[in-house]
Amino acid sequence: MHPFAPLLAFLASFAVPSLALHHGPGINATYDYIVVGGGTSGLALAARLAEDPSISVAVVEAGGYYEEEGGPENVIPALCPFANTSTDPADSSPIDWNFDTLPLTDANSRVIRYARGKTLGGSSARNFMVYHRGTRGTYDQWAELTGDSSWSWESVLPYFKRGCTLTPPNEATRFPNTTVTYNDAACDPAGGPLHVTWPNYGDPFATWAAIGLEAIGMSPANDFNSGELNGTAWASNTIHPRRQIRESSETSYLRSALKTSTLAVYDHTMALRIDFEGLNAVGVQVKTAGKRYTLRARKEVIISAGAFQSPQLLMVSGIGPRSTLEPLGITVIADSPGVGQGMWDHPIFNVAYQVNVETMTRYQTDPEYAAQVMLEYESRREGPLTTPVPGILGWERLSESLLSAEAIEALAVFPDDWPMVEYISRGTGLLDPSDGSNGEQYAGIGTALVAPLSRGSISINSSSAEHPPLIDLGYLTHPVDREVAIAALKRTRQAFEASGVTVGDEYQPGPAVQTDEEILEYIRATISPVYHPAGTCVMGKATDRNAVVDSQARVIGVNNLRVVDASIFPALPPGHPQASCYMVAEKIADDILHGPSQ
Ligand SMILES: Cc1cc2nc3c(=O)[nH]c(=O)nc-3n(C[C@H](O)[C@H](O)[C@H](O)COP(=O)(O)OP(=O)(O)OC[C@H]3O[C@@H](n4cnc5c(N)ncnc54)[C@H](O)[C@@H]3O)c2cc1C
Ligand SMILES: *[C@@H]1O[C@H](CO)[C@@H](O)[C@H](O)[C@H]1NC(C)=O
Ligand SMILES: *[C@@H]1O[C@H](CO)[C@@H](O)[C@H](O)[C@H]1NC(C)=O
Ligand SMILES: *[C@@H]1O[C@H](CO)[C@@H](O)[C@H](O)[C@H]1NC(C)=O
Ligand SMILES: *[C@@H]1O[C@H](CO)[C@@H](O)[C@H](O)[C@H]1NC(C)=O
Ligand SMILES: *[C@@H]1O[C@H](CO)[C@@H](O)[C@H](O)[C@H]1NC(C)=O
Repeated sequence: MHPFAPLLAFLASFAVPSLALHHGPGINATYDYIVVGGGTSGLALAARLAEDPSISVAVVEAGGYYEEEGGPENVIPALCPFANTSTDPADSSPIDWNFDTLPLTDANSRVIRYARGKTLGGSSARNFMVYHRGTRGTYDQWAELTGDSSWSWESVLPYFKRGCTLTPPNEATRFPNTTVTYNDAACDPAGGPLHVTWPNYGDPFATWAAIGLEAIGMSPANDFNSGELNGTAWASNTIHPRRQIRESSETSYLRSALKTSTLAVYDHTMALRIDFEGLNAVGVQVKTAGKRYTLRARKEVIISAGAFQSPQLLMVSGIGPRSTLEPLGITVIADSPGVGQGMWDHPIFNVAYQVNVETMTRYQTDPEYAAQVMLEYESRREGPLTTPVPGILGWERLSESLLSAEAIEALAVFPDDWPMVEYISRGTGLLDPSDGSNGEQYAGIGTALVAPLSRGSISINSSSAEHPPLIDLGYLTHPVDREVAIAALKRTRQAFEASGVTVGDEYQPGPAVQTDEEILEYIRATISPVYHPAGTCVMGKATDRNAVVDSQARVIGVNNLRVVDASIFPALPPGHPQASCYMVAEKIADDILHGPSQ
């Protein structure tokens, strides 16, 4: 039985009533702008464009409301591990594309299922709600890579800040030893559509994880929204402060746009192909409930279908590597060799112990306790159900003494303030209580490679957007990533040992795993995504043959077409990318409405 079965039934009453979607004039209609993909970036961009009453905007989204089609585990923060986002190919969710990857060549040929939102809100409706920004050096490097200084940290900061409203943590609801430090100027005082705050509960295990991370050399940091990722702190979250439920691009940008603008939303509508007249994008072929029709764009088509499907849509529409398109009978409109290439992602592995502090294991194994926790959430929006899994995060640049000369040289492509490793406290217990637990408490520290050198790709073997793209994650294909992973796992073990909260022997990988070879084998056998694919329609200088879009996100080689989402990141910021997705959407919307900021 689902460990939260009683809870889920009980909490079904929290499902959020939907707002009516405007369909505009319906099929074969014409708009100024058509945004393909009502996900994280797409809804932010469309909502901003629609604020101008003289502009007509439509969004085409394959899914509907996740609150209705997915259930409460997609809304209540602590239930996110139960929202069917696992890597098991047998897992699936009705609000997800449920993609399977190609076999991981350097991770035991495993095929993993890769979660991606198929819903209004996109992957912001699937994610684990961590909100933070990259480092100053990250965006300064974006400026260098694009040859456009308007992507520097100083220049993008206003676009981060205008997107959000920061609500201070409600310390009265949190344990005294889980007090949050933060930058209260991280969002504009007037506030933007997206709520960012902290949950009404600090996971006790995270306090011990922090002790361990600090014992091995990290220091407490003030926050992660101000251009530095160094040391430990409580991450801010995309959670609604009063309701303590998931905040997504749908609950924020879309809801406000539906109340105040004429934004048209074509939900449950699949975009099949971009239409061109010569080199000009003029519309989108779509399908709703089996019926095909065309939406025409007077000004532009903007693709925000995410890092897997934006390159796919470009390719099936004739923009991509000629060698991929021609054998599939796709007429080449622009031979763009970079489409789908150079994909980045952050892989993660885990170290786990039995611990002598309360974790999620208790709610999985003790029904009376679970009932009490439900009541606490229902009556006051407090307690453990308010918190998504990641509690305290820790960031570090590995000491050069731990790395080979080759690794030090290869990692020099990253700016000086860019951490190599992210540690994520996971007071989640065992997600499957049949997996050894008899009411004992288990917890983990996830270790993510955030300066990876391995690259993957997205390709197609069908000219139809309705067939899944070919997803090659490329994890651990670069030898330096394997070396860093082994070093990082050893650091995680040291942190856990120093935490003072462990009971007995290490649970995962376990004492039998000792040599570098054994550690690498454990990592190959268990490595999984943090779900941050990016860079598959990379933004760059027009002179760079691999650049897919220019620094205003315009697709190179054609007219009236942009891509705006994680696929255009010139480099994948260390850590969790949703804040950067919102920033990119805010910035390009401003470019479109008011001209480029340079
Ligand atoms: C399980 C999980 C956990 C994560 N945890 C975090 C986290 O804690 N913090 C964080 O910052 N990031 C996290 N991420 C990553 C983050 O959510 C993504 O980087 C971000 O949401 C990507 O935004 P996007 O706009 O690029 O794409 P998406 O939000 O995925 O939007 C793409 C949209 O396009 C639609 N679409 C695609 N193709 C078509 C088509 N042909 N026709 C119509 N519609 C189409 C999709 O249905 C989707 O709605 C997580 C992601 C996952 C999956
Ligand atoms: C929509 O356009 C298609 C051609 O693109 C045409 O075949 C169809 O009849 C049109 N439908 C309506 C209702 O106008
Ligand atoms: C979703 O996950 C739960 C466990 O959390 C599992 O019992 C259920 O079968 C999954 N659903 C699908 C459709 O895979
Ligand atoms: C912090 O307080 C919580 C709640 O009292 C407790 O469970 C946890 O062990 C404490 N952490 C530390 C490091 O003392
Ligand atoms: C991180 O902080 C430590 C102090 O705790 C400092 O010595 C180190 O230089 C900082 N690293 C970066 C990359 O800023
Ligand atoms: C495309 O590749 C997938 C995954 O390898 C495979 O299952 C599918 O049959 C292929 N389709 C075609 C048309 O070759």
